Amino acid sequence: MIKIGVLISGRGSNLQAIIDACEKGGIPAKVAVVVCSQPDAYGLERAKKHAIPGVVLDPKKFPDKNTYELEIVKVLRKHEVELVCLAGYMRIVGPVLLEHFRGRMLNIHPALLPSFPGLHAQKQALDHGVKVSGVTVHFVDEGCDTGPIILQKAVPVLEDDTEETLSARILEQEHKLYPEAIKLFAQGKLKIEGRHVRIK
Ligand code: GRF
Repeated sequence: MIKIGVLISGRGSNLQAIIDACEKGGIPAKVAVVVCSQPDAYGLERAKKHAIPGVVLDPKKFPDKNTYELEIVKVLRKHEVELVCLAGYMRIVGPVLLEHFRGRMLNIHPALLPSFPGLHAQKQALDHGVKVSGVTVHFVDEGCDTGPIILQKAVPVLEDDTEETLSARILEQEHKLYPEAIKLFAQGKLKIEGRHVRIK
């Protein structure tokens, strides 16, 4: 059973999907701690409901990014976290977090990377006029949404889609894909070879 630390900044629906998948069994993992960069995030309520410790670390209260991330690392270590999952964590990961959890930190992105990295991926996809977008779960590296890709799932873009309708259709798939990727990691089935993630 591996221990997961989930980093969030907002509503935490992916956090919920991860918690539910772990509780249902089938994934040899449990969420040991939730770290949140926003004091009023709804995701903290979700953690509380499942008796998972939620720790608020507001970056504004730290002198710089390194000091902030050292505190995150301290919390994750205290809870013996072996896998870090970014789930709507609205900050770019810096060298401190990366150094401690390289190869053990995942992110989910609401587009088929390398298309539409960064913020508002669903709007970017709509504005570009693509017919298909989707979801990517990847390992985190120093770039913004650039790390080795673990799983992807395509989602159609419909003629009358708005940012909201497309986001909702993508989110439904996010909630399935993230637990699936975590399961593979927890089972020791993922091997990073350069840009490639081999699934055993
Ligand atoms: C999701 O769309 C995720 O892909 C992106 O941020 C959003 C977070 O949503 N990185 P939630 O907080 O998990 O509901």
